[in-house]
Amino acid sequence: MLEIIILAAGKGTRMRSDKPKVLHTLAGKPFLEHVLDRSAELNADKVHVIIGHGANMVREALAGRDVNFVEQTEQLGTGHAVLQVLPHLNPESDTLILYGDVPLTKTDTLAELRAKVSDSSMGLLTVNLADPNGYGRIVRTNGSVTAIVEQKDANPEQLKIDEVNTGVMAVKSAHLAKWLPTLSNDNAQGEYYLTDIIAMSSADDIAIETAQPKDEYEVLGVNNRLQQAELERIFQRQVAEELMVAGATLLDPARLDCRGSIEVGRDCVIDVNCVFEGKVVLGNNVHIGPNCVISDSTIGDGTVILANSILEESTLAENCNIGPFARLRPGSQLASKAKIGNFVETKKAVIGEGSKVNHLSYVGDAEIGAGVNIGAGTITCNYDGVNKSKTTIEDGAFIGSNSALVAPVTVGKNATVGAGSIVTKNSEEGDLIIARAKQSNIKGWARPVKK
Ligand code: UD1
Ligand code: CA
Repeated sequence: MLEIIILAAGKGTRMRSDKPKVLHTLAGKPFLEHVLDRSAELNADKVHVIIGHGANMVREALAGRDVNFVEQTEQLGTGHAVLQVLPHLNPESDTLILYGDVPLTKTDTLAELRAKVSDSSMGLLTVNLADPNGYGRIVRTNGSVTAIVEQKDANPEQLKIDEVNTGVMAVKSAHLAKWLPTLSNDNAQGEYYLTDIIAMSSADDIAIETAQPKDEYEVLGVNNRLQQAELERIFQRQVAEELMVAGATLLDPARLDCRGSIEVGRDCVIDVNCVFEGKVVLGNNVHIGPNCVISDSTIGDGTVILANSILEESTLAENCNIGPFARLRPGSQLASKAKIGNFVETKKAVIGEGSKVNHLSYVGDAEIGAGVNIGAGTITCNYDGVNKSKTTIEDGAFIGSNSALVAPVTVGKNATVGAGSIVTKNSEEGDLIIARAKQSNIKGWARPVKK
């Protein structure tokens, strides 16, 4: 049985924020959520989150997630923090201790650490740093870890040690129950140090087995917004690398932001400054122009999205052509070869095979058949100020430019709507619909002259 404790009570003074540090985001998601995602991947049976500063904000932000909040009203040290969880721990379990402000630890690294826990051993994640300043130092005797000394308590000899404590450890809960209540705060900072349990473990002949992360960034915490930005870049670089390895061309890997997940088929090309949010799935040969924002959408093979287009909760079949400057809002569903051009907004719109809405239109709450041509400036008037109504345009219809289709209304199959019409009545197959003032030409009109 695995229980995870996440320390998240600190204030994060250096963020200079009204929000608790762990709610600040990386890739659009609070640091703490990243840590919770790792916990879920480790199949933790129970997750305890220690909260303090901004406790209510943290509770609210995580409402709906299956975690046990434990409040630490006064932050008396990392050992004191974990002590608060002791009454909730199952003595039979293994406990993994994580930090709410260390978002990028890999699940494999944590699994490796957890595997070091037994009745006679515990796991400690350490790292060797070129500049160990500020960290607790790992003290070894004949190769075995015997203690951690905090920077402020270390002697000059110990300060030279470059192997440092990341803070992450895994240990039998029963051992924690034995050691934590005996911690003292008789040290340079007057805090109850969690790190003091290492010497206790050593004294009890519980071996301290160390693991190291593959990359240093896995154990970096965020203390200020500069470090936040650095970790964001590291994260985004990884996403970009994964996409390239998966067969996508990124015109500049440094100018792509993924705040969710993105899947690519073969030979996709993504131009600069695109942002992907939620779950985005691209088929094969999808081309995305610069400055596009794509959220929770699925895009079929061969579809081309030109510059500055925004797609949200939309589904596009193969070989569609979008943009530039198109906005597809939730519920836009395009069949193959559909075309949505510049300054066109769609919402809850089903658009049939090969149909085109090329310029300056609003198409909302609409069902459009195959082979339909919607002229420039066409508006589906879907809202009467209270209710939304549907526009249906059947296969092969042609809607002249600058028409207003006042829903609910149906335009029949292969029907033609004359430009500038205000269509309020249903029509049938093959009809010509003209609903505009008749033109009159007045012969020999004399223009007014200035008096
Ligand atoms: C701690 C370790 C140090 C390690 C370093 C890695 C101790 C005593 N020292 O030092 O060996 O090298 O992390 O970054 O553990 N927190 C609480 N409640 C508290 C105190 C802290 O929730 O009462 C949380 C903080 O919000 C923070 C984390 O625990 O997220 C670490 O606390 P901090 O005081 O920053 O420890 P360090 O001095 O960095
Ligand atoms: Ca710290």
